[in-house]
Amino acid sequence: MNKRVYIFDTTLRDGEQSPGVSLNIQEKLEIAQQLARLGVDVIEAGFPIASPGDFEAVKAVAQKIKGPTIAALARISEKDIDRAWEAVKYAEKPRIHTFIATSDIHMKYKLKMSREEVLEAITRGVRHAKQYTEDVEFSPEDGSRTDLDFMLKVVETAIAAGATVINIPDTVGYATPDEFGNFIGAIKNRVPNMDKAILSVHCHNDLGLAVANSLAAVQNGAEQVECAVNGIGERAGNTALEEIVMALLTRQDFYGMECGITTEEIYRTSKLVSSLTGMPIQYNKAIVGKNAFAHESGIHQDGVLKERTTYEIMNPAKLGIIQNNIVLGKHSGRHAFRQRLEELGFKLSDEELVKAFIRFKNLADRKKEITDKDLEAIVEDEIRVIPEKYTLEYIHISSGNRIVPTATIGLRSDEDLSEEAACGDGPVDAVFKAIDKITQLGVCLKHYNLSAITGGKDAMGEVTVKVEYEGKPYVGRGISTDIIEASARAYVNAINKIVYETGEKAEE
Ligand code: KIV
Ligand code: ZN
Repeated sequence: MNKRVYIFDTTLRDGEQSPGVSLNIQEKLEIAQQLARLGVDVIEAGFPIASPGDFEAVKAVAQKIKGPTIAALARISEKDIDRAWEAVKYAEKPRIHTFIATSDIHMKYKLKMSREEVLEAITRGVRHAKQYTEDVEFSPEDGSRTDLDFMLKVVETAIAAGATVINIPDTVGYATPDEFGNFIGAIKNRVPNMDKAILSVHCHNDLGLAVANSLAAVQNGAEQVECAVNGIGERAGNTALEEIVMALLTRQDFYGMECGITTEEIYRTSKLVSSLTGMPIQYNKAIVGKNAFAHESGIHQDGVLKERTTYEIMNPAKLGIIQNNIVLGKHSGRHAFRQRLEELGFKLSDEELVKAFIRFKNLADRKKEITDKDLEAIVEDEIRVIPEKYTLEYIHISSGNRIVPTATIGLRSDEDLSEEAACGDGPVDAVFKAIDKITQLGVCLKHYNLSAITGGKDAMGEVTVKVEYEGKPYVGRGISTDIIEASARAYVNAINKIVYETGEKAEE
């Protein structure tokens, strides 16, 4: 029988530590809900002592998400552990994850502690956490650069103090697969009380080896893999969840392992995380990239048409990848619309359905053939997870290569309709300036990205903007067949998130 590998997802903790990423509570809850649907074993919801926002997010996830274990991160100090417990104690299955660095370089320069002092801190910290919950995970930070003999002592000490999971991080992504595999094998075989805890790994991708190192660890006895959706995380990121899961499943013949993931939810989870974090997925990204199942050469296309498995080692349908088939058009009714959405796995309330249907009809007026990808984009764009202070009512542009681009914008806020006009360096700049005049928040645009959702001249454009407000990044997303309108929607979406999070009365 295959052995089980536990999937520990850290998208909401290490993933959220990606430069430029900041998720609000609603967004974290939405991702956590999707992770539960995906079937991960553990959700690391955040680092409660890091900020009041992190604390509230962990608490909300602990209170609302059922199924997976919910973990909260804490340094090994009592204060950190108390704070982590305060937030995570509401979970059905709470876990405290505590850590301290154990490499000579970290102990000398960062902690200024001796090996003995670190061992004492581990015993004290793990015992303290254990007063709160049976489920305590301990991580020796910078584990892969820790002296092996000292690491064996560290792990034995943590388990003796009550740790039930030992997680070995390759914090700086320095390890190589053979070396890391041997390191994990030595811990598994030489720590006398290792049978009392689960052995886990947490790899970073600085050399592009995070997945390979995690797989090498699994071959040498690791039972839990920490990973993040789309591989996001500090610097070059973490082990990509979708890659480790599909490697284990596609090569079950080799690894002899299984995990509890519902693979059909992988693509949707990846899209959700990309859209809410504003971190695009590279086209050639394994498993979930746009080109992952695209066959360009004639020989490959011919092969796939004759027999899919000639050039495809995974079935895209098993990942929940929506094929670009034409499904609906201008004359399709609400019933067909609802049915197709249900087939695609979207469960909308009546109110959401009405909003999405209006959007669909508007799109059908502009675009002849509506594909599944279009429907997916409409639903994701329309079903906002936060209340909207502003909605885009109308937009008028005057632009060309010999005139100053000018935009007139109408934004509705409650019952009020506000109108402003502005000139800019281009039509998008003019639109953003007109919106700024109405909302008066003084946001700073940091990043703008435009991509096509489907092919063809009438393709829908998806715009993602990243703006900064009071030093914090906010991501907005908008779609339309008109890229100026998509830009306006994305900008308004980012502003709505600021208003929601800061409680700002924009026009006051
Ligand atoms: O990379 C790392 O060492 C970590 C630990 C806190 C597990 O993220
Ligand atoms: Zn990490």
